[in-house]
Amino acid sequence: MEITVQNISKSYTKGVLALDNLNLTIPSGVYGLIGRNGAGKTTLLRMLASVLTPTSGEILLDGEPITKNLAAYRKMLGYLPQNTKLMPQLNIVEFLEYMAILKGIKDKNEIRMEVERCIEIAGLTNEKKKRLSKYSGGMLRRAGIAQALLGDPKIIIVDEPTTGLDPEERLHFLNLISSIGVDKNIILSTHIIHDIENICPNVCILNKGKMMYSGSTAGMVDSIKDMLWSAEINAGEETELKKRAVVTNVTYTYGKPNVRYVAKESMYEGSVQIPPTLEDAYIYAAGGVAR
Ligand SMILES: Nc1ncnc2c1ncn2[C@@H]1O[C@H](COP(=O)(O)OP(=O)(O)O)[C@@H](O)[C@H]1O
Ligand SMILES: [Mg+2]
Repeated sequence: MEITVQNISKSYTKGVLALDNLNLTIPSGVYGLIGRNGAGKTTLLRMLASVLTPTSGEILLDGEPITKNLAAYRKMLGYLPQNTKLMPQLNIVEFLEYMAILKGIKDKNEIRMEVERCIEIAGLTNEKKKRLSKYSGGMLRRAGIAQALLGDPKIIIVDEPTTGLDPEERLHFLNLISSIGVDKNIILSTHIIHDIENICPNVCILNKGKMMYSGSTAGMVDSIKDMLWSAEINAGEETELKKRAVVTNVTYTYGKPNVRYVAKESMYEGSVQIPPTLEDAYIYAAGGVAR
């Protein structure tokens, strides 16, 4: 399915413009939404999950506004909000049975089968007896995904699912997302660029409510091809260089700064052109290194 975000703006009552006239097309597969804290990711995901109304604009599913038949759209949705607290006293089976009822699955047999199916996909079959309060961060996130998969939704929205996971759990979780995403729409937000490497063919970069890039992950790197430079500069010259070029990274060796920057031509004597990484492309689109 194809989801279209059409002229979407959102201003909260305090006057914050969280999204500023956003237009993007989300094809099927795993789609990445990247941006720093405050970029507007949660705001957009909540609108895609139809729990928040846009101030203006529309969301379309295969060309039809979702507001035309909201009940039908919601039936197709699975949503894992940011910082979800699951019920610590329950085990995974009890938790999912409860959620299945909330999702409107009525038949007892169907609930049992559906709960088993989702536990298996999430790789929690051996963790059924434990209370959720005893789960690790990675297991909790997979329990959250199991919940989002109840009822076999075609569209799955996950908000910053990798925050707080250790590297191994993170990889396990991303592989799970990648394997689920084959014939579905999975929309995933993150502020960690490496989360989208290898699992999101298409991405959107948000910065302060504006879209900075939308398209393929490969195209992101291409967008700064032949424009990335590396230079060893004198201590204290970082600020000056940042005024003339977009700096994507600064590292220090014995106090001597080494910068990576994007510019059409060399901006500092001794600069060497280097191949860009996805991280360079992201930092560039997000306006350069912070500060
Ligand atoms: N309920 C709210 N009321 C007022 N402002 C909000 C609310 N939720 C988010 N914002 C503001 O909207 C902007 C985008 O926030 P958010 O969508 O949470 O970004 P992200 O998920 O990328 O961190 C931020 O400036 C944030 O402070
Ligand atoms: Mg957020």
